[in-house]
Amino acid sequence: MATAFWPTAEHWSVEIPLDTPHPRVAALAGHGWLQLSNAPFEVPDSEFLSLEYMDWKSGGDTNFAPIATADGELDCRGFWNDGDERPDKDARFTTNADKCPTLRTYVESIGANFGRVRIIKLEPQDHETAMRSFHRDDNNRFNPPDQGWVVRSWFELTDNPDSYMLLMESGPDGLPDPTTESRIPLGKGARVVVDTQRLWHVVVHPGSAPRYALITSFESGPNLTRWIESQRH
Ligand SMILES: [Fe+2]
Repeated sequence: MATAFWPTAEHWSVEIPLDTPHPRVAALAGHGWLQLSNAPFEVPDSEFLSLEYMDWKSGGDTNFAPIATADGELDCRGFWNDGDERPDKDARFTTNADKCPTLRTYVESIGANFGRVRIIKLEPQDHETAMRSFHRDDNNRFNPPDQGWVVRSWFELTDNPDSYMLLMESGPDGLPDPTTESRIPLGKGARVVVDTQRLWHVVVHPGSAPRYALITSFESGPNLTRWIESQRH
């Protein structure tokens, strides 16, 4: 193994459920991810540069600009706050949403129930550094098992064709299986839907400037399926 760091059985991601009754999107069944066609529109830089960012480390040296949150407040927490536990959906727009009308309209136009919507600002990190942040998400905590499985979508706002999202399935030991590795290049406008509870993921970003991307949680269901089918290559 060329990588110095590798998750062990004690990694917190290993405990996150893989098999549940939640209805899934059939298009993700094969690999757990799906690349869509590039976005057919431009997003002005001001829609991600002028937002209010918060110091929140997830997946490396990151800052996040919340566009929709559980209660519309500017925070980066999950939706399972003490005494107010909810699944990652039914989000409300924050004040940042007023500064990014193209992105807000885009998210609303998809028609699926959405949870957290935010822009990630990721500082450069090489492969070895990124591996320390390799993880699976806990997207479906408190999500009733008869409701759609929550997945994530990415929309790249800066052009980083040499950067990539690194994805792996879990092996029988619950740890990432290197034989299942996929790398999704992150050029401007690239879009991908990922079952981030199923797949280990992190972004390798060897550039010299921050990478910005829109990340949205969506509930699986007919509306998300219809949208995915309409946006495939
Ligand atoms: Fe994640």
